Amino acid sequence: MRTLLHFFLFMMTINLIQLYFEAIPVQSRCDEDQQSLLLRLKETFIFNSSRSSKLIYWNSSTDCCSWAGVRCTDGLVTRLDISGESISGPIHQSFAKLQSLSVLILDDNDISAPVPGFFANFSSLTSLSLRGCNLYGTFPEEIFQVTTLQEVDLSDNPRLQGSLPEFLNNGSLQYLDLSSSKFSGFLPKSIGNLKMLSELDLSGCNFTGSIPNSVANLTQLNFLELSLNSFNSPIDSIHWENLVNLEFLELYSNLLHGSIPLSLFSLPVLKDLILSQNQFSGQLPEFANISSNLLWNIDLSGNYLEGPIPTSIFNLRGLLWLQLSSNHFSGFPFNGPQQPKNLFFLDLSNNNLLDDYNGSSPTSSSFLQIYNLVLSSNKLRAFPDFLRNQSRLTYLDLSENQIQGEIPNWIWKLNSLLALNLSYNSLTTLQGPLHNLTSNLLALDLRSNNLQGKIPLFLSSATYLDYSRNNFSSTIPADIGNFLPSTAFFSLSSNNLHGIIPPSICNVSGLVLDLSNNSLSGMIPECLTRLSVLNLRRNNLTGPIPDKFNEFCGLQTLDLSRNQIQGQFPKSLVNCTQLEVVNLGNNQITDTFPCLLKNISTLCVLVLRSNKFYGRIGCPEANGTWPMLQIIDLAYNNLSGEIAGTSLTTWKAMMVDKDGSPVHFEFSYHQVRRRGPISDYYGDAVTITSKGLEMDLVKIRNFFTLIDFSCNEFNGSIPEEMGEFKSLHVLNLSCNAFTGEIPSSFGNMRVLESLDLSKNNLSGQIPPQLANLTFLSFLNLSNNQLVGRIPTSTQFSTFPKASFAGNKGLWGPPLTADDKAGLPVPPAASNESRQSSGHEINWDLISVEIGFVFGFGVAIGSLAFYKRWRNWYYKATLNIIFKMFPQLHQRLGNRGRHVYINQRRRR
Ligand SMILES: *[C@@H]1O[C@H](CO)[C@@H](O)[C@H](O)[C@H]1NC(C)=O
Ligand SMILES: *[C@@H]1O[C@H](CO)[C@@H](O)[C@H](O)[C@H]1NC(C)=O
Ligand SMILES: *[C@@H]1O[C@H](CO)[C@@H](O)[C@H](O)[C@H]1NC(C)=O
Ligand SMILES: *[C@@H]1O[C@H](CO)[C@@H](O)[C@H](O)[C@H]1NC(C)=O
Ligand SMILES: *[C@@H]1O[C@H](CO)[C@@H](O)[C@H](O)[C@H]1NC(C)=O
Ligand SMILES: *[C@@H]1O[C@H](CO)[C@@H](O)[C@H](O)[C@H]1NC(C)=O
Ligand SMILES: *[C@@H]1O[C@H](CO)[C@@H](O)[C@H](O)[C@H]1NC(C)=O
Ligand SMILES: *[C@@H]1O[C@H](CO)[C@@H](O)[C@H](O)[C@H]1NC(C)=O
Repeated sequence: MRTLLHFFLFMMTINLIQLYFEAIPVQSRCDEDQQSLLLRLKETFIFNSSRSSKLIYWNSSTDCCSWAGVRCTDGLVTRLDISGESISGPIHQSFAKLQSLSVLILDDNDISAPVPGFFANFSSLTSLSLRGCNLYGTFPEEIFQVTTLQEVDLSDNPRLQGSLPEFLNNGSLQYLDLSSSKFSGFLPKSIGNLKMLSELDLSGCNFTGSIPNSVANLTQLNFLELSLNSFNSPIDSIHWENLVNLEFLELYSNLLHGSIPLSLFSLPVLKDLILSQNQFSGQLPEFANISSNLLWNIDLSGNYLEGPIPTSIFNLRGLLWLQLSSNHFSGFPFNGPQQPKNLFFLDLSNNNLLDDYNGSSPTSSSFLQIYNLVLSSNKLRAFPDFLRNQSRLTYLDLSENQIQGEIPNWIWKLNSLLALNLSYNSLTTLQGPLHNLTSNLLALDLRSNNLQGKIPLFLSSATYLDYSRNNFSSTIPADIGNFLPSTAFFSLSSNNLHGIIPPSICNVSGLVLDLSNNSLSGMIPECLTRLSVLNLRRNNLTGPIPDKFNEFCGLQTLDLSRNQIQGQFPKSLVNCTQLEVVNLGNNQITDTFPCLLKNISTLCVLVLRSNKFYGRIGCPEANGTWPMLQIIDLAYNNLSGEIAGTSLTTWKAMMVDKDGSPVHFEFSYHQVRRRGPISDYYGDAVTITSKGLEMDLVKIRNFFTLIDFSCNEFNGSIPEEMGEFKSLHVLNLSCNAFTGEIPSSFGNMRVLESLDLSKNNLSGQIPPQLANLTFLSFLNLSNNQLVGRIPTSTQFSTFPKASFAGNKGLWGPPLTADDKAGLPVPPAASNESRQSSGHEINWDLISVEIGFVFGFGVAIGSLAFYKRWRNWYYKATLNIIFKMFPQLHQRLGNRGRHVYINQRRRR
């Protein structure tokens, strides 16, 4: 808990200090011309006054030099900071008159225009910051020639093009950040003339060619980041030894290759060495003669380095942060002579480390003290012995190894330990005794082991407990509530638990309770409305859903699917106004369509599949809202009547005209667990098109949309309005009594991947517009009354016969080989059709993943005030947290909706 506090205090301090500098009062009196100029400027800005904290206070009754964001010298405006004011639209020409400006900060507005060239006339401009302004066009090169310029920040303008000029007179430039823009071309040799340059960030641009040798003349350089460009220098073409003042070197994600030269580690003032995500190979050099005290951060992760990590790496005595993950290292000097006093963070994950390095057992007592240690995804078979003597260890990740047998008792006695991840090993028991322990653990992840017997309940301080995917086979102890007073996340999912859910669970104050995939029976306790996620899916629960959701209900996800629940739909659920996911599928609920949910505008997933809902789905008096609805599955009920097109028109989420790309289904469970940079989590997408693909847990990213009304008694015609669902991916209306024609508007559903209209009474021709659905990979129109020629298109030619079988008068390929009409109607191949109806989505595992945020960090003094470092630190800490608790990533990393779907092919 203390660490958590530290972190927030530390971040707050930074914010306060920034505020303090913003708030320095200004004495100078405003020139009248300047005042009216600024007021006219304000007129030209389009901004949202409820999000403005500066512009709205500008008015003629006060001196303009006292306005927020404005500073003057001798009555002239010299500093203008109107960042984050939600300004939209271009910079007006009248801005050109503010030539006295020395500092201009427009960050984080939506300018959406090219950069005006008149800034080049601002002869005393020292600082120009246009970060995140959505600029486009070509940046006027002459602005770089303003001789007074010290800082230029054009980062995060992904459409802004430009190139670097020859730097002939820019002796004063200290800070140049073009990251995440579209600047391109070569780095001019004259960059070596920027003698004062201390930070250069060109990452994520499109520069090419080699890194000029003249960078060796940039002796003030603190920070250099050149990631994600196309530089092709071999790394030793640069005389690194000349860079005597280089403090921060980041060559993240380039195509640098070869081995890492020792001279890099001996640069006298280098503090940060970041060579991650490149193609370095070979072994690390011995650090025999190096005893740098300044080098505090080394990141060599994501290369092809191999062999043992040399003991002499500890000659780098200032080392605080060492990342060697995702290489092929085979050993770490757990028993070497230990020089650095404190290693704050050591990441050795995703290597080939074995526990018996050098064959000798570590002299654990002399091992250096580590605060945060990540050893996941290695080949460890036992708990490393040196851990016993760690007195400062806060975070320990041993997940995804091959550790077997007992979890040793001493691990709970590491008093400093706050978070422990042992998931994905082969652990079977916990060494006793487990009572009277004084562990301070806040988070424990034991997921996916072979732990057996009773649920171990001894960590009363924990806020995060994940015991899922084990073989625990007890009942849930009646007094469970007493053990979990502060648990925010508690999962016993996928074990062999039986018996009832004890009433004391009501004392769990948590946010997330997941007891899914067990054999729990009995009734659902009445008290669970304080949770935000309740998942009881796949148990053997009976009785009705308690109708006791009160006005304080905070539920966002309610998943009770696949039980034996009977009775009615709980009317009080209308009190849960934050509901996002309701899954009651595969139960025996008997009721009419729950129109009362229509008032809950946050709803995005509604699954009532396989119950006994009956009657019409129109809600006459409520003009259906559900603007966020993405998934509605009402299949296998007794719903009937016509579907009114007007009731669908408010499902705006399905109508968003996205860029026309198909959704990407992802294997979340395995992919997310794979180690690597955050972007990897989004890397490999698998679409449902591949036949026979068995997907265990599929993460549906962003925007997955589905309507499944199949196997009810709906009749009448299919509403034309469905064609408006431009972002719909799956539509299943099969096995109903729909009549009339297939609406030609279906041709507008440009991202549709699966369309099933089989087993209805549809007549008429197949609208030729369907041939325009280029992403359609599954189509079933069988067993209707359709007639005429099957449209010809590349897409249609890929569908099997079964897609069209059982219609009276369809002809043409693939049903009939040639184009002649009047051939005998092929028999309805119902068996065949069954087999190839590939993509049944099975709602076994819909859930919204769980959120859990805990702070992390330690103030490392002055580094905190170094802007670069702060940005980097943010990224790095998030990375660590995500590595240790991948579920968090899904919550924090993608703020959209997260739905997991278990999809299996039905045989
Ligand atoms: C202005 O900002 C507020 C708060 O973020 C938002 O609710 C409102 O919709 C915005 N107004 C406009 C016109 O964008
Ligand atoms: C990057 O530059 C190359 C030419 O150097 C060009 O072909 C490519 O389209 C550019 N990429 C982007 C994203 O602008
Ligand atoms: C570095 O600067 C010196 C003079 O200051 C110049 O002679 C030399 O050519 C420069 N080196 C490079 C590689 O540009
Ligand atoms: C736990 O500690 C209490 C006193 O603190 C003691 O009475 C009890 O016997 C201990 N239990 C076990 C099993 O050691
Ligand atoms: C579910 O409960 C019923 C009786 O209530 C029992 O017959 C059945 O075996 C149980 N199923 C499972 C999977 O426990
Ligand atoms: C909502 O909660 C209140 C108590 O907080 C309860 O009286 C009311 O009946 C609930 N609403 C419904 C529709 O059940
Ligand atoms: C629904 O819409 C109709 C017409 O569009 C309107 O007359 C009626 O008042 C609306 N009902 C509600 C509850 O908003
Ligand atoms: C298919 O789409 C194109 C434009 O995207 C349109 O011109 C054409 O008419 C469409 N074809 C049919 C049959 O609707």
